[in-house]
Amino acid sequence: MGILEWATSPLGQRVPIHIAWFLIWVALIAGLVFLIVHAIYVRYFAGEMDFASDTSTSETLELPPRIPRHSLAARLFHWIMAAAMFVLLFTAFLPKVGIQFNWVTYHWIAGTVLTISILFHVVHATFYLDFWSIWPDRSDLEDTWKRLQRFIGKRAESPRKFAKYPLENKLYHGVVMLSGLAVIITGICMMFRVRTIFFPRNPYLFSDMTWGLMYVLHGLAGVGLITLTIVHVYFAVRPEKLPITASMIVGSMSREFYLKEHDPKRWVIEGLSHPRRTADGD
Ligand code: HEM
Repeated sequence: MGILEWATSPLGQRVPIHIAWFLIWVALIAGLVFLIVHAIYVRYFAGEMDFASDTSTSETLELPPRIPRHSLAARLFHWIMAAAMFVLLFTAFLPKVGIQFNWVTYHWIAGTVLTISILFHVVHATFYLDFWSIWPDRSDLEDTWKRLQRFIGKRAESPRKFAKYPLENKLYHGVVMLSGLAVIITGICMMFRVRTIFFPRNPYLFSDMTWGLMYVLHGLAGVGLITLTIVHVYFAVRPEKLPITASMIVGSMSREFYLKEHDPKRWVIEGLSHPRRTADGD
C-alpha cells in the first residue's frame, strides 16, 4: 500500500492523483501519540525549568501589572485564521472518512478566508510587529544547547529566560508557515478545477502530471496540518500554558508570569519610562 493513489491519464501516462487517505489516520495518531508522550514526560520526568536569573529589582519595578502581549489586530488575525483552519480540516477530511456532504464550496470559501488572513498577517508582522521576534537567533541556539546538555544529565550553565517566543514556538511557526504556504499556493491553483466566483473553471491549465503533483502536495501539507493543529491545541490547553492562551483572548499576561519565563532584556516591553533596547547584550 503506497502513500499515493495513481491513475492512468487519457494519454496513457501513469499519474499520481492524490495522497492515500489512510494518511489522515497516520497524522491523527501521530498527534495523539505526541501529546500522550509529552504529557507523561511532563507529569513524571520533567523538573522545573531552572533559568539563569539576571532581572534587577529596578527593572521589575518599572513593569506594569499587566504586560501587553498581542494587539487586537494580532488576536483577530489569530482567531479568524484558526476558524478558517478548522473549517478547512473538517471539510477536507470528513468526506474522506465516510461523512459525505457537499464540502467543496465551504472548503474554497474557508481557503479564501485563510489566504486573505495570511496576507494580512504578513503585512502586519512585517511593518507593525517585531518581525524578527519569531525567527530563531543565536541565543536561542546557545540556550537550547544548554537545555539539551542539562536534559541528558551533563553539567551546563542555566539557560537564559526566553525572549517573546522560545525556540520551540519559533520552529513550530516555521513548519506551520511552510505547510500553510503549500496548501494556499496549491489551493489557489486548484480553484481552477472547481466552480468559484473568482475565475472561470479551467481544468486544462496544467498537465495531468502537474495537477496530480499539486493535489499530492496539497494533501501532504493538509494531513501535516492535522498533526500540527492537534499539537497546537494540546499546548494551548496545558495548565501551565493557560496564561499564554488567555493572552490571545485578552491581549495581556500578568507581570509575574512574564518575569517567570521571559527576559525583559530579550522581550522589551514598549512604553516603559526607560525602554531597554534589544536582545542579548547588544
Ligand atoms: C488546512 C488547510 C487545508 C487542508 C487540510 C486542505 C485539504 C484538502 C484536501 C484533502 C482536498 C482533497 C484533495 C484531493 O481530492 O486530492 C482539498 C481540495 C481542495 N482544496 Fe484544500 N486544503 C486546505 C487549504 C486550502 C486552501 C487555503 C485553499 C484555497 C486557497 C484550498 C482549496 C482547495 C480546493 C479548490 C479543493 C478542491 C479540488 C477539487 O475538488 O478538485 N484548500 N483540500
